[in-house]
Amino acid sequence: MKTVNPPKKLDSLKPEKVIDLRQAICPHPLNVIRDTLRALRENDVLLAVSDHEPTALENAPRFCERRGYPFRTVEQEGVWNIFIQKVEDRDARLKVENVSKTFNSGDGKVSVLNDIDLTIRDGEFVTVVGSSGCGKSTLLNLIAGLDKPTSGRIFANGKRVEGPGSDRVVVFQEGALFPWLTVRENVEFGLKLRRVAPKIRKEMAQDYLKLVGLTENFHGSYVHQLSGGMKQRVALARALVMEPAILLMDEPFAALDIQTRESLQDELQRIWVESRKTIIFVTHNVEEAVILGDRVLVFAKNPGRIKSEHEIDIERPRQPGHPEVFLYTKWITDEIRENGEAVDEVQEAAV
Ligand SMILES: Nc1ncnc2c1ncn2[C@@H]1O[C@H](COP(=O)(O)OP(=O)(O)O)[C@@H](O)[C@H]1O
Ligand SMILES: [Mg+2]
Repeated sequence: MKTVNPPKKLDSLKPEKVIDLRQAICPHPLNVIRDTLRALRENDVLLAVSDHEPTALENAPRFCERRGYPFRTVEQEGVWNIFIQKVEDRDARLKVENVSKTFNSGDGKVSVLNDIDLTIRDGEFVTVVGSSGCGKSTLLNLIAGLDKPTSGRIFANGKRVEGPGSDRVVVFQEGALFPWLTVRENVEFGLKLRRVAPKIRKEMAQDYLKLVGLTENFHGSYVHQLSGGMKQRVALARALVMEPAILLMDEPFAALDIQTRESLQDELQRIWVESRKTIIFVTHNVEEAVILGDRVLVFAKNPGRIKSEHEIDIERPRQPGHPEVFLYTKWITDEIRENGEAVDEVQEAAV
């Protein structure tokens, strides 16, 4: 069993909290572990007692590795003691602390985001799902530095976010490409602003266009000559070429037909596995959130807030229609429905 260099033997430290997961049904124990850890302080140790071998030997260790939590599992007569230390701050790529956002509207102030708390680790793929108008884009814009929180703070790569930065790049639903530039010039644009030499620029653009699956025949094309899927590939290459630590994606595949969307979901998983970028991907499609995310944050409305979080412990690459993908999609969709959210867009994705 792999342990992630625990500073001391974890099982010799006094746990701050003990939870008994015996009789709990897979995969919910992970959500219990996660929610319990959330309430603990940095460096506290949690002891989870489980009689379910896959939880103890597979799911919990994978969860800890994804989050970078040191852990140790000790078996005693068919019962596993899982010791987990909450160590988050060390590897945090992004920290959103008590962030709220209020807009002034005609009738006064509207609270759009309320008390968002979120830590995202280096290399995590987090998806955010919720019905339209619940504040997903607002949160992404705050992280991108395109707008400022009304209260609370955001840290990216250890620095307070005060404005846009090339360490955080956004891919929008409509690629926002320049129509007067060719595909390659679009991808080179940010590098040019950074005064990267033309030869290197060109090579980088070619490499990244290849990475997103656009063959050289199209590198000299103009945007109006491309299909919707190709445009989004270019937009993705244009973001990746800046080599940002954090990639922010705001419903980038929402306007595409199903086949194109699925092929881009596939590509994005492959790119993520290769590059281990930290990605925050917003969607209103639950199945897409499940296929892409290590964890899915479910947003609720009025005011926008994180309603729940789900660990998606399914092997990659994940495909639509896979039984586990279907199950998680159904659980999350049912939960959103129970919240009474308007989920017509989401429902459609689940069935
Ligand atoms: N600049 C703004 N001024 C006033 N209201 C805004 C502004 N931006 C967004 N809103 C409101 O905030 C809410 C959330 O919007 P948004 O973040 O775009 O939601 P989502 O991306 O989840 O669909 C909506 O009700 C929207 O009308
Ligand atoms: Mg939006």
